[in-house]
Amino acid sequence: MQSLPGDIYNYMRPHRICICKAVSEDMIRAEIRAGARDFKTVQKKTRCSTGCGTCEGRVRRFIDKCIRELAGGEAQQNLQVDSASGHG
Ligand code: FES
Repeated sequence: MQSLPGDIYNYMRPHRICICKAVSEDMIRAEIRAGARDFKTVQKKTRCSTGCGTCEGRVRRFIDKCIRELAGGEAQQNLQVDSASGHG
């Protein structure tokens, strides 16, 4: 099997969630951490899913996953603060 040239391989790597606009999962995660909480806001900031649109479902699921992870992390931190302060 013939291998792909390095640039094409890097361009198509799975972590790039929107190929058309070259938006990575890290870029979306950063927007969630900065306060974005819905698809339209992330789309406006990153321009993801504004090309062919085939990535929209994948982007939406990833946004939901990031928000759940962030909420889980914040809940975990609150538990640690509560237990350290004697509350809870
Ligand atoms: S892959 Fe995202 S708009 Fe085409």
